[in-house]
Amino acid sequence: MCGIIGYVGRRPATPILIEGLRRLEYRGYDSTGIALVKRGNIAVTKSAGRLSVMEQMADMKAPQTTGIGHTRWATHGAPTDVNAHPHLDSTGRIAVIHNGQFDNDRALRTYLERQGIKCKSETDTEVLAQLINKFYQGDLEQAVRQALSEVSGAYAIAVVCSEEPDVVVAARKGGPLLIGVGKGEHLVASDPAAVLAHTSQVVYMSDGEMARITSDHVSMTTLDAIPVTREVEEVEWSLDEIELGGYEHFMLKEIMEQPGALENCLRGRIHAKDGSVHLGGLVDCTRELTRAKRFILTGCGTAWHAALVGEYLFEELIRTPTETEYASELRYRNPVIDDGTVVIAVSQSGETADTLAALVEAKSRGALTLGVVNAVGSSIARETDAGVFLHVGPEIGVASTKAFTAQVAVLAMMACYLGRRKHLSPSSAMQFIASLARIPQQVSEILGNADEARAVAQKYIEFENWLYLGRGYNYPVALEGALKLKEISYIHAEGLPAAEMKHGPIALIHEGMPVVVIATAGTQYDRILNNIAQVRARGGSVIAIATEGDREIARMAEHVLYVPDTIESLQPLLTVIPLQLIAYHAAVLRGCNVDKPRNLAKSVTVE
Ligand code: F6R
Repeated sequence: MCGIIGYVGRRPATPILIEGLRRLEYRGYDSTGIALVKRGNIAVTKSAGRLSVMEQMADMKAPQTTGIGHTRWATHGAPTDVNAHPHLDSTGRIAVIHNGQFDNDRALRTYLERQGIKCKSETDTEVLAQLINKFYQGDLEQAVRQALSEVSGAYAIAVVCSEEPDVVVAARKGGPLLIGVGKGEHLVASDPAAVLAHTSQVVYMSDGEMARITSDHVSMTTLDAIPVTREVEEVEWSLDEIELGGYEHFMLKEIMEQPGALENCLRGRIHAKDGSVHLGGLVDCTRELTRAKRFILTGCGTAWHAALVGEYLFEELIRTPTETEYASELRYRNPVIDDGTVVIAVSQSGETADTLAALVEAKSRGALTLGVVNAVGSSIARETDAGVFLHVGPEIGVASTKAFTAQVAVLAMMACYLGRRKHLSPSSAMQFIASLARIPQQVSEILGNADEARAVAQKYIEFENWLYLGRGYNYPVALEGALKLKEISYIHAEGLPAAEMKHGPIALIHEGMPVVVIATAGTQYDRILNNIAQVRARGGSVIAIATEGDREIARMAEHVLYVPDTIESLQPLLTVIPLQLIAYHAAVLRGCNVDKPRNLAKSVTVE
């Protein structure tokens, strides 16, 4: 989704802005632009298309030391040069970049038109630039504050003015924003990745806050002008983590780094010796959690799939009723939520608009809220009462991979942690934790045979429709495998609980159609073999994900991709790996832009 970078300091701003925008590219965008400020003039360079197009037009040697830059993902108006940010007011003295959407921009546009002010673009952002100019009387911060009091909706903005060339004003309400603190310079950005090359010291802005930023000073207030003080925090991520490091794509890098990522996620939290789990983020609310009458797990997309695995884990280990809800549905339903309900938001970015809104709604109804989040300092991490971070480093590839396995690992740890305080016996907990501790090594073994997944992708690359089937713990994995394939290779794929196939989708199966079946050892094994037989009888080609040593399956499936043995409840951590690899290779073989799939954004901060 849109990205913001701003700089005020002593160095020429252009290379810093362009570099920041490059770090934000992964979030998805369709146009880019920068604005450089000097007294009496703002120079804007912007264009539709990739960053490289705008970069060629920009003057890399421009002397200005204050500027703002933006990657836009079109919402109000098509992705054209005119609609690209930054937007100037009609006098050209104010420039604005904006993530989010204003709800009342049409009314404001009409109001401005009545005053003879006409906007050039179709964007809501230009409306704000015009408003700021209207209120400007020599104090940019005050003018921005006044203009924001007229708009409703969600935003993160950065604003510059040619009459105050050493100032950037930033504000947020519903969109992430942070200030990077350097020596004699400050940056403002929507994502830590954009500032990391210059500083790892950041101040996360909270909702409803504004900042006036110069090279030497930052003053923060609420939108109502009440001064606020925020701590400077250290970003844990290193620059290496946001670079390709020799891989062709971030998605492949992130698939391959899962063993290490999972180790980081589990480190210090699980103790195989006695089966105990230590989750610092839950200590203060453990009593409330053990007394909970119901858990609702919520999220979107891949995070929702991880939550669904979590539902199975919670019910089995904690024995407390648990439901998984799409955040986009939960926020608008009239859900029965009370103070006996715990709502757990699962989100890699911590910024997904629907998940955040569902959380706020649940909180207002009295629920205790927890986050299972990767991005420290993100809106969901700050909004929840407590939570557990994934600690897997930044996920840059648009298709979520290492976040999924870490989300499942965290939910598994939470299930065991709370289960032990309820019905789970010490010996069951020990077996569970010993199995969890082996997972990183087992993932590494699967990745060692990554070529087999490539061969499968190659063989079926011409097919436009795939089915993914799973049962029990592997049903969410079937959904996740199908989502991975469709989002990056644009092949249509459907994931189903295997038994549902005969209630309709079986009609789709035709000669040779690839059907991926997760058929690992466990309680569902015989039933899933029946499903395989049903697919074969209709001419489908079965690609089975099976447990190492299972020779029977090799007689029934065209292809078998083996995963090491583990307990059934942890199988999703292994069975998803070959499916991630199949999707990756299918996309590469079809020449798709794996890290920047069409129409997709890394973090969906609008509805
Ligand atoms: C798919 C994918 C998305 C995200 C979803 C939620 O590969 O990445 O489906 O999982 O947009 O994002 P987060 O986890 O950031 O809330």
